[in-house]
Amino acid sequence: MLFDELQNMKNKALQSIESAVDKKSLGEIKGEVFGKNGALASLSKGMRDVAPEDRPKVGALINEVRNVLEAKLAQKEEEMARKELEERLNSEKIDITEPAKNCERGALHPIAGVIDRLTDICVNLGFSVVEGPEVESDYYNFEAMNIPKNHPSRDMQDTFFINDNILLRSQTSAVQAREMEVRKPPFKIVCPGKTYRNDSDSTHSPVFHQMEGLVIDENVSMADLKSMLTIMMKRLYGDDTEIRFRPSFFPFTEPSIEVDVSCPTCHGKGCSLCKGTGMLELLGAGIVNPKVLEMSGIDSKKYRGFAFGFGLDRTAMILNSIGNIRYLYRNDIRFLNQMK
Ligand code: DAH
Repeated sequence: MLFDELQNMKNKALQSIESAVDKKSLGEIKGEVFGKNGALASLSKGMRDVAPEDRPKVGALINEVRNVLEAKLAQKEEEMARKELEERLNSEKIDITEPAKNCERGALHPIAGVIDRLTDICVNLGFSVVEGPEVESDYYNFEAMNIPKNHPSRDMQDTFFINDNILLRSQTSAVQAREMEVRKPPFKIVCPGKTYRNDSDSTHSPVFHQMEGLVIDENVSMADLKSMLTIMMKRLYGDDTEIRFRPSFFPFTEPSIEVDVSCPTCHGKGCSLCKGTGMLELLGAGIVNPKVLEMSGIDSKKYRGFAFGFGLDRTAMILNSIGNIRYLYRNDIRFLNQMK
């Protein structure tokens, strides 16, 4: 009797396992068969009424039923998992022959690129990078740079005035006095940034960029300035670059120089970029005028300094062979793409 019931239960359970459609119904069947109050447990209780001589046979059958059903369940579970994986793989199929989506890569603007390169070179030489305000006072932009009101040297820079005392800085030299007032010598700083002048043609823009450098120490000489600038130019334009120093005039330096480098496009032979001269004018520099030191509270008997001022737009134009400064500011994506 119990024997038959066990056989029946086994066959029914095998069928329902076979026809289970998902994990949930399989779980339910598992509970019905193997659970605490499941079929197997309640049939096992019937062992009590089995005659002792039949017990080994019935016991063996209970074990067999358990093993068969467990194996069947495991097999069904595995089958379901495999099917599920297969379905997922099919639905998430990747077509590796499909052309890749074009991912646009950005790049630095040529001026940002020049600022990065130059400040890298200067930081390597021990300079700190500082910034100053673009809306500046007449005092820092001119007077502290030894350019008093109504002095003819103001004519060198056509300035945008906001009122009599406030202007858009016409030169990054304005940061010199600001830094000298707050720093204790010796120090070395560079300041890249925007500058403004009422100037507009193929090589001049009303908004442009400069990088100012200032070194204040006890024994600073023209030889230091020349060697520092030579190292910078060679690092920027290449080791075979020739450098030429010419005497010049700036109110805030005495003596003053201008610096030319051999044209990196034609290597000094003469081309359209250097207008056939083989050389390019790059920057102004000089030994800081003692009057400028004194105005900013630095003892000119103890300290001396040198300073230099780069035009960054010009540097970007030379390094990228750009003929007109306006390309730098039009934000034409076709031009910018070429600069990557
Ligand atoms: N500020 C000058 C200009 O805009 C450039 C310059 C010349 C800066 C000589 C300097 C310097 O620091 O020493 O034309």
